[in-house]
Amino acid sequence: MELCIIGSGYVGLVSGACFAEIGHTVVCVDNDQRKVDMLQRGEIPIYEPGLEDLVHRNVAAKRLRFTNSIADGVDHSQVVFIAVPTPPQADGSVDLTYIERVAREIAGVLKPGQYRVVVDKSTVPVKTGEKVDATIRRYNPAAEFDVVSNPEFLREGCAVPDLMSPDRIVIGSASQKATDLMKRLYEPFQSPILVTDVNSAELIKHAANSFLSLKISYINAVSAICEASGADVEMVADGIGTDKRIGRNFLNAGLGYGGSCFPKDVKAFIAIAEELGTPFHLLKEVERINSHQLDRYLKKVREALWVLRDKRIAVWGLTFKPDTDDVRNSVAIDLINRLVAEGAIVTAYDPKGMEKAVEYKLIPPSVKLVSSPLEAVEGAEALLLATEWKEFARQDFAAVKASMHTPLVFDGRNHFNPKTMREMGFVYYGVGRP
Ligand code: UGA
Repeated sequence: MELCIIGSGYVGLVSGACFAEIGHTVVCVDNDQRKVDMLQRGEIPIYEPGLEDLVHRNVAAKRLRFTNSIADGVDHSQVVFIAVPTPPQADGSVDLTYIERVAREIAGVLKPGQYRVVVDKSTVPVKTGEKVDATIRRYNPAAEFDVVSNPEFLREGCAVPDLMSPDRIVIGSASQKATDLMKRLYEPFQSPILVTDVNSAELIKHAANSFLSLKISYINAVSAICEASGADVEMVADGIGTDKRIGRNFLNAGLGYGGSCFPKDVKAFIAIAEELGTPFHLLKEVERINSHQLDRYLKKVREALWVLRDKRIAVWGLTFKPDTDDVRNSVAIDLINRLVAEGAIVTAYDPKGMEKAVEYKLIPPSVKLVSSPLEAVEGAEALLLATEWKEFARQDFAAVKASMHTPLVFDGRNHFNPKTMREMGFVYYGVGRP
């Protein structure tokens, strides 16, 4: 099939590459000419395992191309995906400016007699599809189209496998013709397809992300009880997670959730519920527990080091999770800023996130970024692990200890084995475990 994806950000680019990989012909559209130029040169603006190969292979096979022209994209495609950002506004509600603009632009280029399925892939509040539909009709009363909601569930760091074999594909549609086209498009993925109405599909996305955030906050709240009682949150998570009704995934206690999705989507869901007159108080508590987790962790650091001013602290990890270069809304970044605000001298290392942390000015210039985990701990009075990159667990810990001034380790993601660390002579602090 011939597809167009408007917005070549995370979701748009990975979706485009994966659709091309399974044999569709894809035009990715972006209004950022710099990004289009980069992609046309074969440069990938984000780090995502497997993505670069996928893009190069499909561009070479002429199944994937990039343009800045919506008219070009829409003209050549039966299905037009919208994958533009839906950033948060100051009050937590979703800014739909980009979606509305794209809806108008699509309306402006739809030709009479040219049926198109307009698919919203961006994370949007329930009832957005109705507004997109009304907008296109208002600006182009003769247009022949249907609006479908098709939320995306990929995770950064494993976006390609997530997209290639999703747990489920959700298609929110009121039109049989559009549903049939969408099913044909997704047939090669061999994943279960759930057809719903448009509003339900939109709600599924916010409800799913909020539920996963709730799971994380739940285990983080349990981790506080574990610390107070001497129990081990990892054992508790295993114990409850083996119940199939609960599941072990997303029960990892740590510094809390970050990234460009969970914090924003929980806030948005709270705002959506509020606007509909059905306040969702539970989610406010989810947020409170999440931010409290970093406070609790810092308290532990303070208790051990007494004052942080002038202390040399090494931080491993800047990205909001491993296997990505994404540092947006990263708890690791918050942690570093809090340490610096208290006068600590911070040295940090991350395998992929340092460039973007500097580019977006997310950390103070006083933070020294170094080129290896070992270099970061030189003379450090404490090592703080903020992101669980696999390479951190593979370090030569004898060398790490020898290099540190005082061997204190605050493992914010329960990434190391406490027993091994203590046997090696570290003073080890995990989250919710003795
Ligand atoms: C999340 C969802 O998992 C995806 O299904 C969804 O498509 C995506 O948001 C989105 O809306 O676009 P993502 O933000 O890429 O994906 O990353 P996750 O793996 O979900 O991690 C989010 C945060 O939760 C990270 O900061 C991670 O460290 C934290 N987390 C995750 C925990 O603290 N504990 C866990 O057990 C799991």
